[in-house]
Parts: sequence; structure tokens; C-alpha cells
Amino acid sequence: MLSIEEISACGIIPVVVLNDAEDAVPTARALLAGGIDVMEITFRTAAAQASIAWVAAEVPEMKVGAGTVVTVEQARDAVAAGAKFLVSPGSDLDIIREAAALDVPIVPGVLTPCEIMIGLKFGVKLFKFFPAESYGGLKTIKALCGPFPQIKFIPTGGINQENAVEYFKNPKIQAVGGSWMVSAKMIEAGEFDAIKEKSAAATALYKEIRG
Ligand code: 3PG
Repeated sequence: MLSIEEISACGIIPVVVLNDAEDAVPTARALLAGGIDVMEITFRTAAAQASIAWVAAEVPEMKVGAGTVVTVEQARDAVAAGAKFLVSPGSDLDIIREAAALDVPIVPGVLTPCEIMIGLKFGVKLFKFFPAESYGGLKTIKALCGPFPQIKFIPTGGINQENAVEYFKNPKIQAVGGSWMVSAKMIEAGEFDAIKEKSAAATALYKEIRG
């Protein structure tokens, strides 16, 4: 099992919404060509499980995971399809336990100290802070790091090439999540070159700041 730190090492986790599983492999290749070797395929569409399976089979260099995991069944389906990590918008104890049983890392979503304390009880050290920009962004993350110095965050929601700069500068940020380099619109329009270019720009920004 890869650790979540290894999985998120490139600093950017694209949140990918695929309506057609046929687009999964070209999307994964475009992200990789832009320097991003991790992708979160969200269970917001019926194509999620098949998309994960295609990427796991066809693009082995891509660390593919499942996002928007809101049920235990989705966690099982995702791992059966080849997901190497799970991301949830919230903190559900059953899903956190299931991830442990399935032997995959999970990044639960939090906004409050109470949710963080639930995750800590189960050994979670890396949390998704979602929806980041709507809930105070970096200012709130800094405040949460006071009582919880041992944890790190993956802020997601409203992050873009411009505001990612401040997040990248903060050592408590493991990576940022977002769809600005791979929107559903870009995928549906077949704009894989644009996905590659925006991914390359995000990668360059991360490297400029983190080295
Ligand atoms: C998520 O589910 O993490 C967000 O919807 C991604 O947010 P963004 O589309 O604002 O980047």
C-alpha cells in the first residue's frame, strides 16, 4: 500500500468528474503529461467505477483514487476497481473503518475540531479541508493547526492557479485539490491539450514554491 504522503507527493490532486468512462484514460494521460501523477475520480457520476478501472489497467504510472466516497459500498467498489486511495467530502466512521479494512489510505473531509478529533481517533493525520474557500481558507487552517499541530491538510473547493500560491507556501498543506486544470467541461469538449497545459502550469507553480 502506498502512503497518502507518497500518493500526494506532486502537490496537486485533480478532482475529476467523468461522465463517460471512455474519457478516463486520455484525461489521465493529459494530467501525467502535465506532471501530475495522481487523480481523484469522483463518485458523482455513474462512470466513476469503470473510469477508475480503465485508468488502473491502462495507465499504471497514474496513482488513481476515488473521490466523493459517501457510502461503504462506494469504498468497496472503488478499491475493487483499483483505487489506491479514497477521499470523502466528510468524516464518516463506517467509511474510515472500511478503508482500514480494505488497506487503502483515506482522506476524510473536515471543517471543525470535532471532525478532526474523530479522524485522529482512527489514526488519520491528513485531512481534506472542504469546501476550503467558502470556510475561511488558509486563515481557518492556520487556526486549526494551533490545537492540532500533528496534522496536515489538502484544501479543496474554490482553489485555482492564483490562490494556490498562498496554500503552497504553507508547510501544513500537503497538497491542494481542485478541478481548475481538469474541469468536466474541458473533458467533455475533448480539450486534453488544455488539461496538459494547465496541469503543467500548476506543477511549475508548485515546484517554484516548494522546490
Ligand atoms: C471537490 O469536490 O473537492 C470540489 O468540488 C473541487 O472543487 P473545485 O471544483 O472548486 O476545484
